[in-house]
Amino acid sequence: MSNTDFSKKRIVIKLSGSNFSIDGANIKDSLSNYARMLSDVNDKYQPIVVAGGGITARTYIKIARGLGADEANLDNIGIEVSRLNARLIMVALGDQAYPQVPRNLEDVAIAASSGKIVVTGGLHPGQSTNATSALIAETVKAARFLNATDVDGIYDSDPKINENAKLFKRITINECMKILGNENSMAGTYELLDIVALKVIERSGISTMVIRSNVQNIRSAILSDGYTIGTEIIANHSQR
Ligand code: UTP
Repeated sequence: MSNTDFSKKRIVIKLSGSNFSIDGANIKDSLSNYARMLSDVNDKYQPIVVAGGGITARTYIKIARGLGADEANLDNIGIEVSRLNARLIMVALGDQAYPQVPRNLEDVAIAASSGKIVVTGGLHPGQSTNATSALIAETVKAARFLNATDVDGIYDSDPKINENAKLFKRITINECMKILGNENSMAGTYELLDIVALKVIERSGISTMVIRSNVQNIRSAILSDGYTIGTEIIANHSQR
């Protein structure tokens, strides 16, 4: 299949901001490995990648909060940092990438219609890149939304705090809302999947997986090659 084959299934991939951590020594190699994997799968699928803001976003938000910025302004700072991270992946992808970072959902739709690999950051204040990714999955009619994060999936309690936390292989959207629905909504502190993300997944029955972010996991989740990883979210009325 050609890389501008418009019948390819679209996969939205939220790449955790932890992939862009400024103190990680091997970011360059890691991003070029991600880019190679995205190019490989691009034969059959069109990846739409959403870069998170990571530690750089949180550092900037903390400084600006100390300077007295309001929450919407802080969100905009996080968005700008996630766009910078998006640019790094675009550079790694070279010609395979759509050459602009989309700034709203309409831009994303236009970029996706090019058939190229689209890389974006955040779009709107008041939500995380996870919510944005769910809205993008809805807009581009993605076959799947992969939330590639820094934990193995959704647990019954925070695995960073509780070492006995249990990982769900599958979870319904309602259970997910009970577990994740009370999380933070201050700039820089949106957690795994915020309520906006869950509501969008629910209303459009988006097939969603939460997986640990690494090249092998993302490749397997895209190709659905039977390698079982992470948590699958069962939207109440899966449409795709
Ligand atoms: P995220 O918190 O979504 O990035 O964006 P992250 O670091 O990748 O998240 P995890 O840890 O992998 O889940 C950074 C900040 O940018 C703002 C929010 O303040 C968010 O906390 N943001 C991002 C928005 O306001 N809107 C967006 O669409 C995206």
